[in-house]
Amino acid sequence: MQRKKLNIGLFGFGCVGFGLYQVLERTPTLNATIKTICVKDRHKQRPIPADRFTYHKEDILGDKDINVIVELIDNADEAFEIVSAALRSGRAVVTANKKMIAEHLAELIDLQRTHGVPLLYEASCCASIPILRNLEEYYDNDLLESVEGIVNGSTNYILTKMASEGLSYDAALKEAQQKGYAESNPLLDTGGFDAKYKLLILAAHAFGGILKPSEIFNAGIDRITPLDQQYAREKGLKVKLLARAFKKEDGTVSAFVSPHYIAPTDRLYNVDDVYNGVTLKTVFSEDQFFSGKGAGAYPTASAVISDLSALTYDYKYEYKKVNYYEHITYSHDTLLKVYASSQSDYQADVAAYFEEVWEQFSNGRQCYNIGTISLGNYARLYAEKPVSLIVIDRHTTGEEVLAGVDIEALVATP
Ligand SMILES: NC(=O)c1ccc[n+]([C@@H]2O[C@H](COP(=O)([O-])OP(=O)(O)OC[C@H]3O[C@@H](n4cnc5c(N)ncnc54)[C@H](OP(=O)(O)O)[C@@H]3O)[C@@H](O)[C@H]2O)c1
Repeated sequence: MQRKKLNIGLFGFGCVGFGLYQVLERTPTLNATIKTICVKDRHKQRPIPADRFTYHKEDILGDKDINVIVELIDNADEAFEIVSAALRSGRAVVTANKKMIAEHLAELIDLQRTHGVPLLYEASCCASIPILRNLEEYYDNDLLESVEGIVNGSTNYILTKMASEGLSYDAALKEAQQKGYAESNPLLDTGGFDAKYKLLILAAHAFGGILKPSEIFNAGIDRITPLDQQYAREKGLKVKLLARAFKKEDGTVSAFVSPHYIAPTDRLYNVDDVYNGVTLKTVFSEDQFFSGKGAGAYPTASAVISDLSALTYDYKYEYKKVNYYEHITYSHDTLLKVYASSQSDYQADVAAYFEEVWEQFSNGRQCYNIGTISLGNYARLYAEKPVSLIVIDRHTTGEEVLAGVDIEALVATP
């Protein structure tokens, strides 16, 4: 089979864009060259000659010699304009922009169908881990029960540094930013939004339902206190930010992002630093575990390269679950085991949100409650009180409760 020649128009030459440029130079077997690079800032020093760059998107979008657009910019709205224009013009597109995909997935699927061109985005979820194509090709049936994991490299890096080196939250965040692991707007990472965008994409490929970002509850790591870390140390646990989508007994799917206490027996326990880890559970084969670098120039660029390579063989996502399976329903009526820390003054207020409280502690200034709480009430508590919430046991959820809470009204925007 003859591989197609790719003539690339590249948008963005930051961390990932420059990484792609370097990785492509070392991938001679891929029949691909970058023809033009579009960036924003005319005054920025560039590591390659100035005549490789343009500042006008039309220089790429209007160039008939360019047959693939790679979109690696850091603005989701501008990215959607570029990507949708490229698809409309009949060009294949590769992107790493999870916020843009999560906000427009249904429209992007329609555009691909209408114009008969593919949009690939493996780099958008867990950077170097080949998860989307596995969900599309290998798990293309209805036996998948859950997709859960650490999907944000910078928060995992921050949590690892806080736990292992005793760094403060601010110092660990600064280090993640210096290493190029954090998004330009750090709240996207620390508030759990980036993880939520990835979960939305993973859930669409895993279960077929296309949610809106406002329909998935996300709690971040920005409220975690030294008391929470001390609790983890005393119990031999680690705090990790997990994105989870799992089928419940009634066939509905629960999807949310929250910090979790993870025990050493859990495979995600040893996923540290900028690594990501995803566990998939199926009805007959139990757990599979994927791990790899979840951020950084080369790991992300390597996923873009893999998508480019797939394009040379005319690969496209078929959205098998979206197209061929009965549509899945998402539900927030799930009971969670949760640790909630706050100032001691709030202890009774916080406890009132729980179905049942089993354990309480207070040192007069800070306190925690541990017990069961519905996901809906978890979201309400998170929105209404200054509280740090950490799920205690990810393996014992899924029980039904009728929370009667409107999640969309409680989900914040970054
Ligand atoms: N960094 C990671 O580890 C990672 C991992 C997975 C996915 N991603 C995703 O990859 C994308 C790029 O991230 P990054 O870390 O490489 O960002 P970055 O380092 O901030 O670079 C952004 C680039 O986009 C350019 N840009 C912004 N607006 C533009 C526009 N309207 N037209 C043309 N160029 C424009 C900037 O131009 P100037 O150079 O002129 O400022 C810059 O070169 C994002 O969607 C991000 O979510 C990143």
